[in-house]
Amino acid sequence: MKHIVIAIDGPAASGKGTLARRLAEAFNLPYLDTGLLYRVVGRRVLDHGGDPSDVALASEQARGLGRLDLERGDLRTPEVDRAASAVASIPAVRAALLDFQRSFALHAGAVLDGRDIGTIVFPEADVKLYITASLTVRAARRFAERRALGAEVTLEAVQADLAARDEADRTRAAAPLRPAEDAHRIDTSALDANHAFAAAADWVNRALAKP
Ligand code: CDP
Ligand code: CDP
Repeated sequence: MKHIVIAIDGPAASGKGTLARRLAEAFNLPYLDTGLLYRVVGRRVLDHGGDPSDVALASEQARGLGRLDLERGDLRTPEVDRAASAVASIPAVRAALLDFQRSFALHAGAVLDGRDIGTIVFPEADVKLYITASLTVRAARRFAERRALGAEVTLEAVQADLAARDEADRTRAAAPLRPAEDAHRIDTSALDANHAFAAAADWVNRALAKP
């Protein structure tokens, strides 16, 4: 099998991670959830009692990031959602995380999901997918996930948080969330994980068939 790079971007809870894991398994590629990198940096700033928009502190935490940090269990809370998005708007933080993301795909190719994979991290990716779903569908999905983790949240609060984070991610100056020109769009509002996978696998197979 060719060592290809599959770049998957899109807003929060659109189904990027679910799809990325399925593609990685099916095409035997390593998988990197790049959102985790920003979540770890946000978490580390909070642990230091700092403000996630503190440029010096957030950049220092991004530069000191290690592989083991990605295995922390407390990275999927509303507090970390907001901290991740705040540190992600700092250019020095993004720059510090770029090498790690690029070298991840060096040996065997990779599937990476995030916000700027097809635009900034791997503009030459073999396959670029832009995953979307309506805000209400995404909020319902994230609400169900958080409730399953035992969190006491309301659907309204989850939806408001998602909308605010999407807006911040789309309008920031540094690597804003947007589809690459050559990205294939998949709207998962009415697609379950199997159907989303089938649509994506089709694009990957076409890329693999190219000489
Ligand atoms: O899982 P969800 O889609 O809610 O978020 P995530 O992928 O874990 O990303 C958390 C935050 O990190 C996002 O809201 C972005 O602000 C930031 N992020 C980014 O800026 N660039 C990436 N490649 C990945 C995440
Ligand atoms: O990575 P991202 O934040 O974009 O989303 P995800 O973690 O892949 O998916 C969020 C939730 O939606 C998970 O609980 C998935 O099982 C669910 N999902 C779905 O219901 N239908 C899909 N086509 C994809 C994901």
